[in-house]
Amino acid sequence: MIYSEKVLEHFKKPHNQGEIKNADAVGEVGNPVCGDVMKIYIKMEKDVIKDVKFETLGCAAAIAVSSALTDMVKNKTIDEALKITKDQIVEDLGGLPPVKVHCSMLGVEALHQAIENYKKNIKH
Ligand code: FES
Repeated sequence: MIYSEKVLEHFKKPHNQGEIKNADAVGEVGNPVCGDVMKIYIKMEKDVIKDVKFETLGCAAAIAVSSALTDMVKNKTIDEALKITKDQIVEDLGGLPPVKVHCSMLGVEALHQAIENYKKNIKH
């Protein structure tokens, strides 16, 4: 499998990896096909994502996606973050091998779930 330089960089030294202990919301999704799991923590300031971290038990592509995505959404508003597509993440990573493109979906889904959970929390 040939990964781009950028994927390998993110995989070897992931950005924003870990847990936010006092996170405002968490999103967690699993990929039923491969069993990989991705968790995204967000810390908000009004509607801006001030901090974001991830824990991913998954393949190299899933880890690179988590790393790139968390870089992309930091300091973005909820609306801006929701507009990020899996194709943008793949592009940011310099491409993914075709069999690995589904791994980028996991990132988008985990982020959307974290944002949904945040919206639910603030209604109370
Ligand atoms: Fe499971 Fe990549 S193979 S997310």
